[in-house]
Amino acid sequence: MVLVKRSKTWADPNSVTPAVKSDKIVETANSLKSEVSKLKKPTPLFASRRFLFPLGLLLGALIAFSLIEPRDIQDLHAHLSLLLGEYQLTLPGVDLSRVEAEWLRLRSNIPELWKFNTDGREFQVGDSMVARGLTAHHPVVLIPGVISTGLESWSTDPDYRPFFRQKLWGGFNMLSQVTFNRDKWIAAMMLDPVTGLDPPGAKIRAAEGIDAASSFIQGYWIWSKIVENLAVVNYDTNNLYLAPYDWRLSYYNLEERDGYFSRLKTTIEGFKRRQKRKTVIAAHSMGATIVLYFFKWVESAEHGGGGPDWVENHIEAYISVAGTHLGVAKAMTAFLSGEMKDTVQVNPAGAYVLERFFSRAERQKLFRSWAGSASMWIKGGDAIWGTPHGAPDDSHNCTHTHGSLFAFRVPPLPPDTASTSKGVEPDPGNMTADAASDWILQHTPSSFQKMIQTNFSFGIERDEAVLKANAFDHRKWSNPLEVQLPLAPSMKMYCVYGHGKETERSYWYVQPPNEYDETAAEHADGLDPLCVDPEGGECAKGTVFDRPLARKSWIDAEFTDEGLRPEVRNGVTMGEGDGTVNLVSLGAMCVEGWKRPRWNPANISVVTVELPHRPVMSLPRGGANTSEHVDILGSTGVNEIIIKVATGVGHEVKDSFVSDIRAYAAKMRWDSDQ
Ligand SMILES: *[C@@H]1O[C@H](CO)[C@@H](O)[C@H](O)[C@H]1NC(C)=O
Ligand SMILES: *[C@@H]1O[C@H](CO)[C@@H](O)[C@H](O)[C@H]1NC(C)=O
Ligand SMILES: *[C@@H]1O[C@H](CO)[C@@H](O)[C@H](O)[C@H]1NC(C)=O
Ligand SMILES: *[C@@H]1O[C@H](CO)[C@@H](O)[C@H](O)[C@H]1NC(C)=O
Ligand SMILES: *[C@@H]1O[C@H](CO)[C@@H](O)[C@H](O)[C@H]1NC(C)=O
Repeated sequence: MVLVKRSKTWADPNSVTPAVKSDKIVETANSLKSEVSKLKKPTPLFASRRFLFPLGLLLGALIAFSLIEPRDIQDLHAHLSLLLGEYQLTLPGVDLSRVEAEWLRLRSNIPELWKFNTDGREFQVGDSMVARGLTAHHPVVLIPGVISTGLESWSTDPDYRPFFRQKLWGGFNMLSQVTFNRDKWIAAMMLDPVTGLDPPGAKIRAAEGIDAASSFIQGYWIWSKIVENLAVVNYDTNNLYLAPYDWRLSYYNLEERDGYFSRLKTTIEGFKRRQKRKTVIAAHSMGATIVLYFFKWVESAEHGGGGPDWVENHIEAYISVAGTHLGVAKAMTAFLSGEMKDTVQVNPAGAYVLERFFSRAERQKLFRSWAGSASMWIKGGDAIWGTPHGAPDDSHNCTHTHGSLFAFRVPPLPPDTASTSKGVEPDPGNMTADAASDWILQHTPSSFQKMIQTNFSFGIERDEAVLKANAFDHRKWSNPLEVQLPLAPSMKMYCVYGHGKETERSYWYVQPPNEYDETAAEHADGLDPLCVDPEGGECAKGTVFDRPLARKSWIDAEFTDEGLRPEVRNGVTMGEGDGTVNLVSLGAMCVEGWKRPRWNPANISVVTVELPHRPVMSLPRGGANTSEHVDILGSTGVNEIIIKVATGVGHEVKDSFVSDIRAYAAKMRWDSDQ
């Protein structure tokens, strides 16, 4: 039933009649096929549950679109087989000839399919807390991570009117729009590279309320588990607020366009006024840098105007769950070459959509236009991430250091200079974090360089006078290494994150000889000169001849060597972390940086809890003891900590380590710059 209803609400005004429906499927399947062959990635990712889940989504989308007539099922079967053949995939235990029967079964209990979330632990943590006599004490504000918030269209422009108030990000609707309205979708979702705001005609805003980030797609929960458990201890919309935001925007524009930080401030002040209590903030992933930015913004006289003791007076505790404090190595590959498999990945369904439906160039363009994603750029450079001589998180017996963030197996071949008189880029060689940052920036359009220059900063600042002065510079606020924590001695901080899932840490790249970057083409037009001088402010308009051509580069997917330590698989070297965010980024500030008065002048107490990754293999989301980057929001450990802090027994939460993060952090160059 649900299914039939849904397929109606999805229908686009110019929607297809049943007669053309199957043509439409053929078209889709064909376009999917060509996308697939374009992607032609040899990675054997397809056997993982991470793949099976999106496949389920795809099936669901196709089914919902087409399957009203049994005749369509035949078509679908044929095309699905083609698709699967393309992936060289065989699904154990799923016989495709039984699709029709499967579909009938599915239709009769559609909720089952999407019940990835139920594993018999619903409300359990809350119940056990109630049994202990705990109940709601502090108001709670939840801040989601990148990509988690649903986005809906508010444009009434004729072009976008069919989407009015529909979700373009999140929900089933996203899948149908991406499938059937790809160009419109991408036009609406891509921000203007210069202003960093909606392009003309389009208008996309964050969805509102707790639903905006409870689940990404029906059944794929994000915050639902935490909301459920908080509800058991007596939280509701009067003392619980989820602060959704348009994660595509730079933090500056979040306030400028949406008044996001003003609203957050007002909400927290409202809680204080009515309930006479300070608020507990829990942030996930990129939300952690949003909170840091907020702390600076709210106390700044020029912005929030809350005064120097606002945080002390309004915030009881701040819980960072899997916070991307010092950036994410994966994000760097997305900026450079649009590689997105699991990338931005705060959830596989979102990454799946980007990876499957868009070419590498389109993804790269989209990702770069989303200024907010630049907050995941790695911070602290070589001092934190290592040098060619070693990285703090190298294992003791390694043969290749993570300090070479981007390495090349062989020096790239010199390009065929006979065909062009233009200069060629010098051989980049193996690059550390600092070198890679500069190099990536040089390979991006000047609009992106300008955005980074005016809105973000990725360094490390050791001079306390400068750190204090940075409280007036919004570019620094999302970088914990360049600002101080607020003077809030009674506030408590908790860093909670998972450990024990392999996480991309460094990369092997190739530069084929005769392929040039799009930016080079733009440059050749004289429209968008490459701006290589980060201090230069205005970019000098150069002529075609005075700048080297940027060669294209991508991950060296053919390079696999399991004999190396750490081993290299498809050009990627794995390190420690929660599957998405590197351990260095999750923990270094918590165990070392914020233990120093330089970055934490009020000596705010920082408790670090590492949760070991122990998923139950038979559950798609891993169950009670998973610590995967997103699934951790449903884990017993995180739920207990949030409830304990919210109900006023946060003092029970103690430091707990499973990794060597303290040893790694001790090796970083926090103090001197030599
Ligand atoms: C960056 O910040 C400036 C303010 O310094 C703002 O005017 C500009 O719009 C921002 N750019 C983007 C792309 O967010
Ligand atoms: C090298 O380190 C890895 C991971 O720490 C470990 O599994 C392996 O046994 C070590 N090998 C030697 C020879 O120490
Ligand atoms: C990069 O480092 C690896 C060893 O870690 C080395 O084999 C390779 O030759 C280096 N590449 C370049 C271009 O220097
Ligand atoms: C900060 O507080 C801790 C206890 O929470 C204490 O052990 C430490 O000495 C304090 N550091 C400074 C610099 O006051
Ligand atoms: C999770 O871990 C706890 C404590 O380590 C254990 O008691 C519990 O049985 C585990 N649950 C599952 C589902 O593995």
